[in-house]
Amino acid sequence: MTLLEILEERLRAGCRVCGIAEDDLAGVGVTQAADLRFGDYQSNAAMVLAKGVQQNPRSLAEALAEAVEVSEIAEVEIAGPGFLNFRINPATYAGRLGHLLEDEQLGVARVADPLRIVIDFSAPNVAKPMHVGHLRSTFIGDALARIGRFLGHDVITDNHIGDWGTQFGMVIWAWKRELDRSSLGKNPLNELLRLYRSANSRCAEDDSVKEECRQELVALQQGDEENLGIWKECVTLSREGLQVIYDRLGLSFDHWLGESSYNERLPGVVEDLLQSELARESDGAICVFSDNTGDPVTDPFKIQKDGEWEDKPMIVRKRDGGFNYATTDIATVDYRVEEMKADCAWYVVDHRQGDHFKQLFAVAARRGRGIELKHISFGTILGKDGKPLKTRAGDLPLLSDLIADAIEAAKESSEGRSRVEDEKEREVLAELIGISAVKFMELSHHRTSDYIFDLDKMVSMEGDTAPYLQYSYVRCRSIFGKLDGEVVLDGADLELSDEKEIHLARMLVRFGEVVPVILDDFRPNLLAGYLLELARAYHSFFQSCPVLRSEEAIRKTRLVLCELTARVLRQGLELLGISVPERM
Ligand code: ARG
Repeated sequence: MTLLEILEERLRAGCRVCGIAEDDLAGVGVTQAADLRFGDYQSNAAMVLAKGVQQNPRSLAEALAEAVEVSEIAEVEIAGPGFLNFRINPATYAGRLGHLLEDEQLGVARVADPLRIVIDFSAPNVAKPMHVGHLRSTFIGDALARIGRFLGHDVITDNHIGDWGTQFGMVIWAWKRELDRSSLGKNPLNELLRLYRSANSRCAEDDSVKEECRQELVALQQGDEENLGIWKECVTLSREGLQVIYDRLGLSFDHWLGESSYNERLPGVVEDLLQSELARESDGAICVFSDNTGDPVTDPFKIQKDGEWEDKPMIVRKRDGGFNYATTDIATVDYRVEEMKADCAWYVVDHRQGDHFKQLFAVAARRGRGIELKHISFGTILGKDGKPLKTRAGDLPLLSDLIADAIEAAKESSEGRSRVEDEKEREVLAELIGISAVKFMELSHHRTSDYIFDLDKMVSMEGDTAPYLQYSYVRCRSIFGKLDGEVVLDGADLELSDEKEIHLARMLVRFGEVVPVILDDFRPNLLAGYLLELARAYHSFFQSCPVLRSEEAIRKTRLVLCELTARVLRQGLELLGISVPERM
C-alpha cells in the first residue's frame, strides 16, 4: 500500500472512533500536501464532516488527530480552521527506500482486476499525410498503452488506419496517369501523397476529373480487378513506409486492423440496425436518428438551429449505397466486443471528431454492447505565431519532417557541449534526443490544451524537457562509474537526516502514487510533471550532499538514493515511450 492509502485507511478508522457514520466515510480523503512546510499529506475531512456531527471543524479535527493511529509512520498536526497535516517520519521513508530496491514495479501496485483494453491510436490515412494530429494521437496512445500494461491491464493496441476512403478514387486516377515508379520505390509515402495531392488539385479545377475519380472509386468498390490491385499495392507500400516511421519512433502495434478489414461486415451491420429499428431510410440514405428519450442538449442526434432542435442523424449507408466511416466504426465496436472480448476501447483521436464518437458510443449503448467506450481527445499543436502549425506552403506539416527538424535541433544544441566524441555515437544520440524531445513536449502538456511547437525549447538541456531528464539519469549513473570497491545496495541501516535527502526520498516514494492515477483521466502529463520534480529534487540533493566523499551509512544511503533515482527516471521515461542513454 502507498503511504497515502495507509493514511486514508487509518483516518477512516479514526473517523469511526469519533462516531462518523459509515455512509459518510466514502468522502474522507487524504491528498499530497500542497505546501511541504506543513507536512507531506493533508486532509480536510474534519471540515467536510463537522456539520454532520454538529461539531465545529477545529474540535472535530482535534478529536480525529487523537483517534487516528499513525504514530509509527507519521506525526499529525492541526492547522487553520481544521486541516489535518501528516508529516512522514524520516525512518518511514528510509524503510520504503529499502522496499523500492527489491521491487521491480518500484512501488507501483498492479491492479486487482485487470481489464482487457483496446487502444485505438495513431490511425493515419493511406496516401494522405501523417501529420501533427497523428503525432499527438501516436504518442499519447503509446504512453497510455505502456502505462496500462505496467499497471497489469491486458492492453491490445490497434492501428485503425484509413485504408478505404474516398481518397482512393483520386489516388487510382493519378496512379494510372502519372505514377513515378522509381520514386515509389524510394519513398512510397511521399509518392502516394504526391499522387493524391496532384489529383486533388486537378479535381478542384476540373469537374470532369472529379467525375473520373468518382468512377475509379466506384469501380474499386465494385471489385474491379485492376483498381483492387492498385489499392492493394498502395496499402502494402503505405504500411511498410509507416512501419519505418514507427520503428524509428520506437513503437509498435498488436494489430493493424484498418478500415478495410471490416468491409464484409458492413451490410450486416446496416441490416441489423434496420431490423432493430435503430436506423431507418431517409431521403434514400439509411440513418440512425435520436430515440427522443433524453434531453436534446445532451442528445448527440440533435442539433440546434435558429432556436429549434433539429435531427442530426448518423448516416450509415449513403444514397449511392456506399458505407462510410461511421458504419465501419460500428462494425469495429462489434469486432472488439465479439472477437477481442474487450472490456473497454479507448479512441485517441482529435477533438474535432467528438460528435462522431458521441454518436458512435450512443449507438453501441442502444444496441446493448457491453463495452466501455472512451474518446480520449486532444487539442491542437500551434506554431510560434500561436496559430495551428503549418508549413511555409500552408500545408499541415508532415510528422516525418517534424521529427527530422527535431533531430537537427538536438544535434545543434549538443554541439560543443557533448562529452561523447565518437561521431557515430553522437548521431545516434541526436536521433534519440530529438525524438524524445518531441515526445516529452507532447506528453508534458495536458492533452486537451494547445501548445506551441518550439524546437529550441524542447531540445534545451535546461528546461522542462526530455534531455534535462535524460541528463539527470546520466548524472545519477555516472557516480557508480567513479566508485572504487564494491558496495552492497540493500535496505539495511539506511538513514535520512538532511532535508534534501528526505525530499528526494519523498519524491521517489511518490512514484507509486502517481502512476496509478494517470488512467483516471488519461493524463500522462501527471507522470511527466512528476519526473521533472524528481529530477529537480535530485539536483538539489546532489548539490548539497556529497556522495562519494561521505562515510559509511550516509554514503550508502546516498548511493541508494542515486540508484533509485536512476531506476525511477528510467522506468518513468520508458512509460512515456522515451529511452535513456548511458552517456550524453
Ligand atoms: N483515420 C482517422 C483520421 O486520421 C482516425 C481513425 C480513428 N479511429 C477510429 N476508430 N475512428 O482522422
